[in-house]
Amino acid sequence: MRILSGIQPSGKLHIGNYFGMMRPALELAQKGDAFYFIADYHALTSVTDPAEMRQNALDVALDFLACGLDPQRTVFYRQSDVPLVTELTWILSCVTPMPMLENCVSYKDKIAQGLRPNLGLFAYPVLQAADILIVQSDCVPVGRDQKQHIEITRDIAGAFNRLYGQVFRIPEASIRAEVAVMPGTDGRKMSKSYGNTIEIFGDEKATRKKIMSIVTDSQPIEAPKKDLDKNIPLQLYTVVRDPLAAAIVASKLAEGGYGYGELKKTLFSAIMDYFAPMRAKRAELVKNLDYVHEVLRKGAERANAVADETMRKVREAVGLR
Ligand code: TRP
Repeated sequence: MRILSGIQPSGKLHIGNYFGMMRPALELAQKGDAFYFIADYHALTSVTDPAEMRQNALDVALDFLACGLDPQRTVFYRQSDVPLVTELTWILSCVTPMPMLENCVSYKDKIAQGLRPNLGLFAYPVLQAADILIVQSDCVPVGRDQKQHIEITRDIAGAFNRLYGQVFRIPEASIRAEVAVMPGTDGRKMSKSYGNTIEIFGDEKATRKKIMSIVTDSQPIEAPKKDLDKNIPLQLYTVVRDPLAAAIVASKLAEGGYGYGELKKTLFSAIMDYFAPMRAKRAELVKNLDYVHEVLRKGAERANAVADETMRKVREAVGLR
């Protein structure tokens, strides 16, 4: 089974990204031939600062390698190192009906958020289809928000195959079940746009401060605390540790005499312990950027070999050769 997914470089990795996207992606990569890439062409539809573009792309590479991506097993590359995807994007765009893109929810959302309606943003799903189809991927692990993009990919592949003969495999989306709720420091979903995140590779002091600032109710230390579904530090602790460890803490809270300050310190230690090996690995990688660039170069070489094979078939099928 061939698995492919793209990651948009979008700033500092937080624990919501880790448990929601990265850990499941790394687990899935064990189950087949995985192709994971940094979607920098896609990022260009919204990031206009070149320094930020470079930094974000490098950060994704560092984050994934630090968190355990195995570059021997997984083909890990930068999308722009496989420029054939832009050739395929053009060819696919010639079999993509306009109304399909006009109906695209993520395009409408981005415009509503104030992004400029440029052609890149509009054609975004066609580029994504090219990413997927060029490696003949069977399985595309994504979040729920990407479901429509995968359906568009399937439609485009089907349209192409009907017109030109069987060239593309039709991929299947693998939609991640809403993983354990990951609330941010204010109780809303943890998200960069809410400014309520806890970074994985952030400065230790700043991280402690963020955790100590998590919103809780104002019951005194002595009070027995039973309102567990509104207890944000406990919810985070459940995900970072496990339900059993959380149950022990919950019973201390219910007895009284155990305050939120104590709970947050326990949470801080649990987060630091969990991510300690990854923080150490990342610090090491930062000192060894040549290695990181080499990983991406080798990944691109492997991805290009696959892309090249697909593009030969595509050009032949449409009559460009
Ligand atoms: N659009 C995806 C996102 O925002 C990123 C992406 C680009 C992608 N190309 C892809 C995901 C191909 C899966 C397959 O998350």
